[in-house]
Amino acid sequence: MRVLVTGGAGFIGSHVVDRLMSHGVTPLIFDHHRSAHHQAVEHFIGSILDVEALRLAMNGTHAVIHLAAVADVRDVFEDPSYAESVNVRGTLSVLEAARRCNIQRCIYGSTTWVYSDCLSPEVDEETPIPPPSHLYTATKLASEYYCRSYSTLYQLPYTILRFGIPYGPRARDGAVIPLFVGKALRGEPLTVAGDGQQFRQFVYVEDLAEGVVLALKPSAAERVYNLDGEERISIRQIAESVREMVGDGAQIVSTPARPGDFSGKRVDSTRARLELGWRPLTPFREGLQRYIDWYRLRQEQQNQIWSKVDAALRS
Ligand SMILES: NC(=O)c1ccc[n+]([C@@H]2O[C@H](COP(=O)([O-])OP(=O)(O)OC[C@H]3O[C@@H](n4cnc5c(N)ncnc54)[C@H](O)[C@@H]3O)[C@@H](O)[C@H]2O)c1
Repeated sequence: MRVLVTGGAGFIGSHVVDRLMSHGVTPLIFDHHRSAHHQAVEHFIGSILDVEALRLAMNGTHAVIHLAAVADVRDVFEDPSYAESVNVRGTLSVLEAARRCNIQRCIYGSTTWVYSDCLSPEVDEETPIPPPSHLYTATKLASEYYCRSYSTLYQLPYTILRFGIPYGPRARDGAVIPLFVGKALRGEPLTVAGDGQQFRQFVYVEDLAEGVVLALKPSAAERVYNLDGEERISIRQIAESVREMVGDGAQIVSTPARPGDFSGKRVDSTRARLELGWRPLTPFREGLQRYIDWYRLRQEQQNQIWSKVDAALRS
């Protein structure tokens, strides 16, 4: 079985590629750039706005896992027009290429941010979703709607996965856990927006990737699943855990709240457990420790590279 992963060079996508391989599935990567982690995997370098390039990549594949996007809400805020083109038109291109290639399933990587404007403090896949305030969420919901439309109009089966906030090795440096770890290691203060009581159900990225692969099951067609962690972790708790695990006594300071920030809901992933057999198995502190170990190792490797460059320039 061959599965194309758009955004396969990214944070979540690279772990999905790992998991596909461990399940005996052949992954192919479609991305703007090559993956730093998968030299032996077939790559298609291009933009998801290019339907023809996508068609070429999808030729002979069974399914597509669509993860390419402007995934950082700050980038969406800075350049909404570009974000809209990639996150909305890009999804349409993926669906269109999939339709023309008779792809058997399109798995779409959405987000639990779609629940941000729900009044209920607890949400599941049946919770009605009001119009979103944040443009990022609007682009993700638009893509969900497109998946449904393509299924109804063209019989292209979809699965929508709403991811919680992933963390773990290879995370983008701008996300909250990498920022805190980096600052703590440099001895800088850890800044917490607002009172820091906004919580998330962080999900360890390898657990998340397993859920994405399980969504290839035939029974997951035309279904929506939340894939989220089970523990409620506040931003302040993360700062405190990082401070303790890095062990340098970094200060924790408060800054003003971010506009449109998702204050946090309890997101229920029972459906994924019952139908896909998925559970996030990694406890938060264990995942955080693994991330800190990976971060330190990466830092050592980068330092070694710079020392070699320095030595070469001096000789
Ligand atoms: N990271 C999160 O917090 C989070 C949470 C929920 C949902 N998601 C969703 O999961 C998906 C993956 O997120 P991620 O964290 O791995 O992001 P990421 O930024 O690490 O990876 C996205 C990948 O998409 C590629 N890409 C972007 N635009 C492209 C284009 N026009 N053509 C081809 N490739 C393009 C990038 O090069 C990158 O490798 C996204 O759809 C995101 O919205 C992410």
